[in-house]
Amino acid sequence: MFPIHRNRRLRSSEAIRSIVRETYLSPNDFLVPLFIVEGKDIKEEIDSMPEYYRYSLDLLKKEIKELWAMGLKSVLLFVKVPDNLKDNAGTEALNPEGLMQRAIKTVKDCCPEMLVMTDVALDPYSSYGHDGIVSDGKIVNDTTSSVLAQMGLSHAKAGADFLAPSDMMDGRIFEMRTLLEDQGFYNTGIMSYSAKYASSFYGPFRDALDSAPVALKDVPKNKKTYQMDFANRDEAIKETLMDIEEGADIVMVKPGLCYLDIVRDLREVVNVPIAVYQVSGEYAMLKAAAQKGWLDHDSVMLEQLIAIKRAGAQVIASYFAKDVVKLL
Ligand code: PBG
Repeated sequence: MFPIHRNRRLRSSEAIRSIVRETYLSPNDFLVPLFIVEGKDIKEEIDSMPEYYRYSLDLLKKEIKELWAMGLKSVLLFVKVPDNLKDNAGTEALNPEGLMQRAIKTVKDCCPEMLVMTDVALDPYSSYGHDGIVSDGKIVNDTTSSVLAQMGLSHAKAGADFLAPSDMMDGRIFEMRTLLEDQGFYNTGIMSYSAKYASSFYGPFRDALDSAPVALKDVPKNKKTYQMDFANRDEAIKETLMDIEEGADIVMVKPGLCYLDIVRDLREVVNVPIAVYQVSGEYAMLKAAAQKGWLDHDSVMLEQLIAIKRAGAQVIASYFAKDVVKLL
């Protein structure tokens, strides 16, 4: 009760503010997404993601060393697949010499201690840009799950530490976990995109990988038949609890900022680490506003990332990882 309590006492200097501050960021919080392309000597900026790049494998090595030197110890790999290798079966996704498999080896060769996580989903490999196999104008669940499990196994064989299935098929975590056990990959982790919403914030990412979905007979030009409806909250808990039961070591909420209520809900009910993916559209919004001089880049970035951690995220996948570590 006022005036016995005057809350401003705890805000009166930087020293007192910093000693009572509840949330800090450190390089340990961040998982760095990386986009990889075929070719040599390529570092190309993504149009809708200013100051973010696609790397060829030779330049990826340099980037990995730089990240490690900054204290960034985990990466999440995505590949841009040439059009002529895309089909409706995920064939190239299983190629032991595919770009992803070579990228995993490249990272492990130049920096064995770097934690390598890989995106497991068919969209960059799909001629339809969907995360599943298409049959009769629909995305078929169970066939997709078994291909995803094979894809995960192939990443594990190439040396991936963690698989990150981002597709939202039902039962794919169980399928993947069972196959890994059968094949002796006991220590390969799974970070499940468990509460992944059908969001329009993924637009720039789909530009980066040229992986936008097309409309099918029974499926609109979006991913709403498998990714979650952004109006739903209880469903996120159901999805996440099922993924943990099926064998996920880390669960994820995606996108970030608009979904922090979900992160907090989950924090109350799960006892595994929660990751948050601050996605491409969130990155693009701030970069664009900052370029126009409408927002202060660094302070808005810090405010957003602190909010994500304060909500309950232990792992933050963010395109700002390098920017923020430079500031800390
Ligand atoms: C692939 C995948 C997507 C993202 C991560 N993995 C795109 C999608 O689901 O359409 C989005 C990441 C981002 O926007 O930064 N399944």
